[in-house]
Amino acid sequence: MTSAATVQRRDRGRFESFRAGFPALRQQTYLSVCDKTILHDEVRKSVEVFLDHLALASANRVDHEVKVAGAREKFARLMNVDASTIAATRNVSDGINAVAWAMPMDDGDNVVVSRDAEHPNNVYPWLRLGRRGNEVRTVAPQPDGALDIDAMIEAIDTRTRMVSCATVTFAPGHRTDIERLGAACRARDVFLLVDGVQSAGILAHDLAAEPIDGLATSTSKGLLGLYGFGFLYIAPHWIERLEPAYLSRPAVRMQTDDHSAMGALDYTLQPDSRRFEVGSYNLAGAYAADAALDLLLDLGTRVIEDRVLALARALNEGVTALGLASAVPSAGPSQSHVVTFGALDAGGHGVSTDPRIVAVSAALTEARVAHTIRRGQLRFAMHAFNNGDDIDRTVACVAEAMTSS
Ligand SMILES: Cc1ncc(COP(=O)(O)O)c(C=O)c1O
Repeated sequence: MTSAATVQRRDRGRFESFRAGFPALRQQTYLSVCDKTILHDEVRKSVEVFLDHLALASANRVDHEVKVAGAREKFARLMNVDASTIAATRNVSDGINAVAWAMPMDDGDNVVVSRDAEHPNNVYPWLRLGRRGNEVRTVAPQPDGALDIDAMIEAIDTRTRMVSCATVTFAPGHRTDIERLGAACRARDVFLLVDGVQSAGILAHDLAAEPIDGLATSTSKGLLGLYGFGFLYIAPHWIERLEPAYLSRPAVRMQTDDHSAMGALDYTLQPDSRRFEVGSYNLAGAYAADAALDLLLDLGTRVIEDRVLALARALNEGVTALGLASAVPSAGPSQSHVVTFGALDAGGHGVSTDPRIVAVSAALTEARVAHTIRRGQLRFAMHAFNNGDDIDRTVACVAEAMTSS
């Protein structure tokens, strides 16, 4: 039998060798994956293979697209669903807009979204539907910035077609109670679309079990890839009910792989999520995603989640003990890998009106601890490449800044 200590030791070794693949970590403490990822050597190598092929004209489009299929399949495995439910997209916005315009809706039908708590890219797509004649019901979050699930459920009525929310908000960083919201949506045949960019690759998802009907993400954060490539998951029972607004060849059933061969004018949509794919793929993004997903699958999402939540808790408690007020729980169901401090909206994007946060942020920057200020709050986030030394270093830096400010 393998003892818990052996498993822990083995995991520690795997995490340390994963960490060693990130050159950025030799020069800084990186606690900002909620903003953007850093590049692993294997991901970079994979993109370089693509660039070499381009430079030498040594592969054709069909050869490259093996990486698109690989990325779809591996993302599906990470999310515990079949690859046929996954579309290769560009980013979160792309996935959200694809669903927004594919949903059959009559004038006066409505969508429910949260006000103030969502990233703009999960707000503007819905406002656009408002101009088309649909009602956009915006629900205020709770005073601490967490989504108000009860109020969102209350806002659903017989004309509601979709509800959209982040799995984890970009700030303050609460994890959303998807189980409760999703159960309410399923009971009313309402499509629950989630912006999963803050959780995918970091917190464990099991889309076969979670009551999520669509998940849009990009690979630019926890999935360790590039900007401009992403995924859209659509639950199997919804695929045939959605008719994409945009159409080009990848979404149409074809007899041949030749990209310029025209098919029947009386076309049939792909029976799977590829019906949401439009035009040529971001191949560099696919090469990156394919390699990055190998790394994540090798570590395992449950193990990654356990690790990042333990690190997040240590950072939360360490900094709170120094006198900065934590804005998110350090344990429990709404804890995520994002850890924020200070009053909500005491400042904005990159700016805080709290002199202590300004001083601490300046000290962290000086000490090369990557972080951000969002909605006026000091924000950190962990991924599998972080370790206990990162937390100790950060807490020590905050302690020093607090005593000298
Ligand atoms: C919650 C959330 N949604 C969406 C985005 C970005 O959207 P897109 O991938 O469309 O650029 C971000 C990026 O910071 C985000 O934090």
